[in-house]
Amino acid sequence: MISSRKDDHVRLAVEQQRGHGGHPGRSQFDDVSFVHHALAGIDRGEVSLATRFAGLEWPVPLYVNAMTGGSARTGIINRDLAIAARETGVPIATGSLSAYFKDPSVAGTFSVMRRENPDGFVMANVNATATVENARRAVDLLRADALQIHLNAVQETVMPEGDRSFSSWGPQIEKIAAGVGVPVIVKEVGFGLSRETVLLLRELGVDAVDVAGRGGTNFARIENGRRERADYCHLDDWGQSAPACLLDAQDTGIPLLASGGVRNPLDAARCLALGAAAVGASGEFLRTLFDGGVAALIARISAWQEQLAAVMTLLGARTPADVARCDLLIGGELRWFCADRGIDTGRLAARSRGLAVAEATGGPR
Ligand code: FNR
Repeated sequence: MISSRKDDHVRLAVEQQRGHGGHPGRSQFDDVSFVHHALAGIDRGEVSLATRFAGLEWPVPLYVNAMTGGSARTGIINRDLAIAARETGVPIATGSLSAYFKDPSVAGTFSVMRRENPDGFVMANVNATATVENARRAVDLLRADALQIHLNAVQETVMPEGDRSFSSWGPQIEKIAAGVGVPVIVKEVGFGLSRETVLLLRELGVDAVDVAGRGGTNFARIENGRRERADYCHLDDWGQSAPACLLDAQDTGIPLLASGGVRNPLDAARCLALGAAAVGASGEFLRTLFDGGVAALIARISAWQEQLAAVMTLLGARTPADVARCDLLIGGELRWFCADRGIDTGRLAARSRGLAVAEATGGPR
């Protein structure tokens, strides 16, 4: 049952990505633009993509986010994703290990990720009802460097066989964060994290959050497509986009990661500018793998790295953290979101000015 669900998810997610012909349309990322400063550029050789957060250091601020495992077919996908991560040096997450807790015989469909990528940064993934013991088993199976816990209440609500009990999630996250022994990152699965949720997660002892916003892979639609009567389409547009979540979570005092609908290296740069320490993608990478195989995925991730560095060169940003000091304009729907949530967009539009003055005068930043 679980293994056929995993196969369904992969098939429907790829169909969803192909639905926009590989050229996804407008999204709230398009409401975020950089102010162009024609003399800001630096030399490519000055740019380092390395990023630091929560005591971790990653060579690049990009990662392959959680997807799959639990069936023969998804084991092959995990092998290929792991090869691409190894060849490009990007961190990677497995899909949820719930299937392994229910049936340990599928262990190999997950552990293949570590076998193919022995020295890479690998994250295990569990849901918020996992026991501390199972969270530790997940970490052990992958020799994982960090643990992701996913929050998927909307998906469970639409899933024909889904859960309807969510009240234990907070206390359970607190126990896992205290007891698992590796950094814990809590993520959504494509509906976003609000400021209130991010602050709560910080109180629960989580090390970082991944906003995983709306606009890319849509699990309300995927699960609705698995329902006999597809009668949950009223939840198709639920949630907040990644840019909205990042704006909402400014200055929450917890490291932010961004994912959900990231289409290209410019979207990745936009996430860094909005305060993310690193940027993940799932659906886009899965489609690339399906359409062109491992070689195509390696080429794509490599191109994203190079093109992200090119945008940073143009912006004069030597590090991912420097991108978060570039001037940004917020327009469209996203501006309405900011107005209603009390977010000062004016501050973002001219934030490099203080830095330029400080640099010219040698004064404090
Ligand atoms: C996912 N995602 C996911 N997330 C998670 O935490 N555990 C999981 O098991 C899965 N499973 C899964 C399967 C497939 C086929 C896809 C495409 C995605 C969600 C994923 O990590 C991410 O949060 C969302 O897909 C949004 O990012 P994209 O796809 O818009 O880049």
